[in-house]
Amino acid sequence: MVVKEITSGVYSVGAIDWDRRLFDELIPLPDGTTYNAYLIKGSEKTALIDTVDPTKEFDLVCNLVRLGVDRIDYIVANHAEQDHSGSLPMMLELYPDAKVVTNEKCREFLIDLLQVSADRFQTIRDREILSLGDRTLEFIIAPWVHWPETMLTFLREDRILFPCDFFGSHYASSETYVQDERAIYLAAKRYYAEIMMPFRNSIKGHMEKVEALDPKIIAPSHGPLYNNPGMIVAAYKDWISDEVKNEVVLPYVSMHGSTQKMVDYFTGALIDYGIVVKPFNLTKTDIGHLAMALVDAATIVIGTPTVIFGPHPQAVYATYLTNLLRPKARFVSIIGSYGWGGQTVDILKGMLTHIKPEILEPVIVKGQPNEETMKSLDRLAEDIKKKHTEIGILPEGE
Ligand code: FEO
Repeated sequence: MVVKEITSGVYSVGAIDWDRRLFDELIPLPDGTTYNAYLIKGSEKTALIDTVDPTKEFDLVCNLVRLGVDRIDYIVANHAEQDHSGSLPMMLELYPDAKVVTNEKCREFLIDLLQVSADRFQTIRDREILSLGDRTLEFIIAPWVHWPETMLTFLREDRILFPCDFFGSHYASSETYVQDERAIYLAAKRYYAEIMMPFRNSIKGHMEKVEALDPKIIAPSHGPLYNNPGMIVAAYKDWISDEVKNEVVLPYVSMHGSTQKMVDYFTGALIDYGIVVKPFNLTKTDIGHLAMALVDAATIVIGTPTVIFGPHPQAVYATYLTNLLRPKARFVSIIGSYGWGGQTVDILKGMLTHIKPEILEPVIVKGQPNEETMKSLDRLAEDIKKKHTEIGILPEGE
């Protein structure tokens, strides 16, 4: 249980989950996470911004008791996902006069997901304001960060932005504000890669609105708060930009060593051309690291053997995940070996429906790689070098 005063009358009342190691049964959380909720006491009304994961609702209740909160007028729901809304039913029982303030879309989700009674809502529109007396909340509808119902809440007088997941990081810390900027940059990049990257184009529009608000503090619902918002705003502008970097991401798996030999040789060839290469052995890698590498890379090369008639299931998983995350990579190729045939290349190419890259000629060999295979890998490395040079991310002559 932790209560922290952000400014006079504004408190952080959420929970720290030091031990959580997986989110959505999918996303690794090496640093745990927090579910941040905020209490704002106005001269006339009190508002709670978001709640916490239901596994931590006792923490939220204790924090409110500790603050002596005997009445909540509004519970603002910026996002319906259960790690922020899951304690809403309990809050509504404990505070029977509280209204859930949210947009129409989020209202629908909360009714469907949590069976919140329809008469408990106060629905708001984009840019609507809500007075707490001496304080004013402004709501900015911001779909797709990262669900269709997401919105941001801005506390005007204190210039605090509550963007829920947007700008968040899965990082358990006892510190209120970012202290170690490098550590939080990496945690926020991991968060962006795994959760926000598919919605890069929507985020571009939201960034303009955030910059126009000029917040003094950004208080997300995961991880520490930013009292220097410029740091996370600049990072997001880089990640969502259309600029790619001179990098090749190489997720791969090898069964009997042939694909591994090709990956090793190919990695060296790319390094010789001055290209940054990031190989990920899919049997060992943390998919969060793979996702982070996908944020910037110009090229993805998938390495896989053929299992029966198609790609190795680990390569299928990585390719499916890559397609879901929609990185901005421009070029894709495939390398690997097979025993007796199959449709590895066509199956993997067919999976990349969302990112529509230019496919560079794959290198697929029967059995062990030989001298010819290495020449083909040299040719693929040279193709990548040419492409990176053409788009201006690798200087001529490197
Ligand atoms: Fe932190 Fe989309 O929930």
